[in-house]
Amino acid sequence: MQECMDAIAFEQNPASTTAALRITAESLGGEEFKADYGVRYAYLTGAMYKGIASTKSVVAMAQAGLMGYFGAGGLRLEALESAIRTIQAQLRDGQSYGMNMLCNLEQPEVEERTVDLYLKCGVSRIEAAAYMKITPSLVRYRLKGITPGANGATHVPHKVLAKVSRPEVATAFLQPAPPEIVSKIVARGGLTPAEADLARLIPMADDICVEADSGGHTDAGVALALMPAMMRLRDDMMARHGYAKTVRVGAAGGIGTPQTAAAAFVLGADFILTGSINQCTVEAGISDAVKDLLQEMNVQDTAYAPAGDMFELGARIQVLKRGLFFPARANKLYELYQRHNSLDEIEPSVRKQIQEKFFRRSFEDVWTETEDYLRRTDPKKLAEIESNPKRKMAAIFKWYFIHSTRLAMEGNADQKVDYQVHCGPALGAFNQWVKGTATENWRNRRVATLAEMIMRGAAAWLNQRVDSFVQSELRRQTLPLASR
Ligand SMILES: Cc1cc2nc3c(=O)[nH]c(=O)nc-3n(C[C@H](O)[C@H](O)[C@H](O)COP(=O)(O)O)c2cc1C
Repeated sequence: MQECMDAIAFEQNPASTTAALRITAESLGGEEFKADYGVRYAYLTGAMYKGIASTKSVVAMAQAGLMGYFGAGGLRLEALESAIRTIQAQLRDGQSYGMNMLCNLEQPEVEERTVDLYLKCGVSRIEAAAYMKITPSLVRYRLKGITPGANGATHVPHKVLAKVSRPEVATAFLQPAPPEIVSKIVARGGLTPAEADLARLIPMADDICVEADSGGHTDAGVALALMPAMMRLRDDMMARHGYAKTVRVGAAGGIGTPQTAAAAFVLGADFILTGSINQCTVEAGISDAVKDLLQEMNVQDTAYAPAGDMFELGARIQVLKRGLFFPARANKLYELYQRHNSLDEIEPSVRKQIQEKFFRRSFEDVWTETEDYLRRTDPKKLAEIESNPKRKMAAIFKWYFIHSTRLAMEGNADQKVDYQVHCGPALGAFNQWVKGTATENWRNRRVATLAEMIMRGAAAWLNQRVDSFVQSELRRQTLPLASR
């Protein structure tokens, strides 16, 4: 914090060469972005599943004139509706909030019901993530209520921010909704022909958030390479489709300090979005035990592990490693799944180790729990899994991912080593920045204060860098040629 305050003091230093043209936290990022979202800063907090990005966090951001997305992933519809109502009840007109929307190709009805709920509750901003292609539910959300505006423009009531890490996914969001999907939705009464007619005038997303290596699900992208390529793609697609409004490009992944935020804006980001740092704040919906661990981490304390929800596909998540066995154990389970076709093929000593040490219960007990759940929720899937030993092994292994999340959420004191805590190195960098200040203790970290520190610090850092470049150029110009 002291460093931040020193940096902010610099920002306010009238002696600075660039004082007259001082960059401020408010001036960073896209003007249209800030106006559209009704926010003071081009800074968003990303969703974190199961309400880790909590109603408290979303409300705190909104009340500070900023915006965050609620972590809708993994919550039942009733819990989601209650969260929306809780947020709405605490916000005044003009204060902004958004909800997460996750692609679910395996259970498209989950996405459909989520869209029904968002439309019913008047949710007007979503952060769409995990999409590999555009789905009918997303198209319905995007186009519902669209009306013609003046001079060929349109009025679009539902804003979509698409979080992407690959150009082909960005391309899908930079195009209008696929016509064949639009026609099908019209045929079943989900959109009116008038709404469908306007579909070709707008892209699927207002904003593309380019996610480099991040906490949670990650393609481990490199921001320095991704940003220019994605901005070029945006420009090409704008030229091809001639949209009335420019699609903005923002940056996420690895942002936890003023310097990183400043770098993202220098790369051309219209906005930035943070994740990992917000999990270690008072408002985050996770146990104190996890926050205590997170507060101590450094930049090298993360590891990659398989993602429980996309286990068979080999998708990866970035998690906290320091003091935890979860990453090693989860990787071991994935390696066994790849090498074997059934639990019976696994060496007896390894089977014993998993049941006694990892699971602390037998495979039979885990299967009974899994079977019970599937019988209630998805009997068809249960029948498929039962008849396929490899799928049954995957189902039993996947239980560990649900279990380890639960342990972390509850802060189970006995099984700390099995906590599954999604997190990226951004928090490690933040922790180093605030070391020795009051903010070192997470109990003094508030989500909107972090936004303030990072944005004001970024402006200060940029002013300092520009000033240093200018001073050095002035020195160079005043030096006699011979001495150069
Ligand atoms: C604990 C945790 C849970 C997350 N859950 C979700 C999620 O449910 N949906 C989503 O779109 N992104 C999720 N994310 C990603 C964040 O919204 C954000 O994009 C990412 O954390 C930014 O990178 P950073 O962690 O390097 O700041 C999660 C991130 C973390 C750390």
